[in-house]
Amino acid sequence: MKPLAGKVALLTGCGNPRGMGRATALRFAAAGADVVVTDLCRHDEALTFGGLLRIGEDPDALEALAQEARAQGVRALALALDLRDAAQLRAAVARAVADLGGIDILFNNAGTGAGAGPFLEIDDDAWDLSYAINVRGLVRLCREVIPHMRRRGGGAIVNNASIAGLSGRAGYGAYAATKHAVVGITRVLADEFAADGIRVNAVCPGNIDTDMGAAEAGLIAALEGIGVDAAYRRLGAEAALQRMGRPEEVADAVVYLAGPQASFLTGVALPVSGGMRTGV
Ligand SMILES: NC(=O)c1ccc[n+]([C@@H]2O[C@H](COP(=O)([O-])OP(=O)(O)OC[C@H]3O[C@@H](n4cnc5c(N)ncnc54)[C@H](O)[C@@H]3O)[C@@H](O)[C@H]2O)c1
Repeated sequence: MKPLAGKVALLTGCGNPRGMGRATALRFAAAGADVVVTDLCRHDEALTFGGLLRIGEDPDALEALAQEARAQGVRALALALDLRDAAQLRAAVARAVADLGGIDILFNNAGTGAGAGPFLEIDDDAWDLSYAINVRGLVRLCREVIPHMRRRGGGAIVNNASIAGLSGRAGYGAYAATKHAVVGITRVLADEFAADGIRVNAVCPGNIDTDMGAAEAGLIAALEGIGVDAAYRRLGAEAALQRMGRPEEVADAVVYLAGPQASFLTGVALPVSGGMRTGV
């Protein structure tokens, strides 16, 4: 019997080919859970920062991921879900519940690097965008999903924060502030819904070799006038293990936190960083 057989997991931000969302969806499916994979499914220039960041804009790629999950013997739905769009968010949850019978696991994975940069250069729009996606969207989704979890007698929420949500570091501005908020929300929800059998934890990845990680390496290379390979080495060297992490290594931590083996864990913000030296 697979550990998550009979469970339904809804995940955000699954559309990128090297993302933690995609890796986690496939790990959930391998563990026997039905999955609802979601992402933007449309182009939004503002979120790419001039082509630097890749976003999950291709609905066919998301459907192909659902198909890969189905090939593991589970049910899978691919749905458009922009975290800034309250109506779309409600519709995605309603569709997941109608088609798959409920939601047991929520992985709030989607996030934006908007609002990272030198503090004096981050304008109000960047702060607002960072808040709208990394905090308000996550909060709204929890508000939609928790009543369904209560009806099922419990559930597990895992939030993708960041090592930037645990300490301060120059140049991370609104990104670090909103990821601190994700850790704070995780702890509040863990306390508030423990009596309902809902566990709420966060993963705090360090430097992970995803599409967002590649964008960070590209940015460092451009800012410091070094090659992209050197930028990758520099990001890897920030971890005691002297390398960047793989999306699957974060996915394994998420599946653990969402599953029965973590039955006595709630309110935890777990660094998945290879022993990264954090900031202030
Ligand atoms: N890569 C890293 O080094 C790293 C480190 C720590 C934390 N994180 C966090 O991990 C999470 C996953 O990032 P990733 O590195 O796998 O990169 P990724 O780019 O694959 O994932 C981010 C996803 O969020 C989606 N997204 C952005 N705006 C959205 C919106 N408005 N509505 C819905 N979806 C939206 C994107 O389309 C994308 O699929 C993010 O929350 C990120 O902040 C990443």
